[in-house]
Amino acid sequence: MLDAHISPEGTLSLQTIAMPADTNWSGDVFGGWIVSQMDLAGAIHAERFSKGRCATISINQMTFLVPVKVGDVISCYTKILKVGNTSIQMQIEVWDSHDSSRPPKRVTEGVFTFVAVDVKGNKRTIAEDLKQQFLQHAS
Ligand SMILES: CC(C)(COP(=O)(O)OP(=O)(O)OC[C@H]1O[C@@H](n2cnc3c(N)ncnc32)[C@H](O)[C@@H]1OP(=O)(O)O)[C@@H](O)C(=O)NCCC(=O)NCCS
Repeated sequence: MLDAHISPEGTLSLQTIAMPADTNWSGDVFGGWIVSQMDLAGAIHAERFSKGRCATISINQMTFLVPVKVGDVISCYTKILKVGNTSIQMQIEVWDSHDSSRPPKRVTEGVFTFVAVDVKGNKRTIAEDLKQQFLQHAS
């Protein structure tokens, strides 16, 4: 499990509502749907950061903490953990903020890695000034 903090960490990169079409036979939302929202959120952040296209190369440490139900408003928070030559490692947390009378709860978390790619899909080097920007922000 990632850090046991009690409020979202990182940038709000995507917010959406779980719909009936996203559920399995028992009425809970498919884990795959949640993972795809996380992937989109991470890609949005990685592409903004690296100023270009990114592709997902790995998904690690996925933990589904609480089931998501139809009508839940989920918020995906993304935080860059590490920037390499071509890769960006990202912590992605999903919080359910459906019920405004109660504090939001973390429902899923994971670590995704994206690779910066060019228009042909070949990896590209992340600019040095962006790496420095990240290091300054992180310290
Ligand atoms: C992304 C892609 C172009 C990378 O090319 P590649 O030759 O495989 O790249 P490399 O093996 O040199 O790895 C590139 C970076 O990813 C990192 N990486 C590779 N495999 C990894 C893994 N399993 N987990 C985490 N990072 C990984 C490498 O360490 C390297 O990081 P660095 O440059 O910051 O040091 C290629 O793998 C690809 O096209 N994959 C398919 C992507 C895709 O279709 N994703 C799903 C839909 S978006």
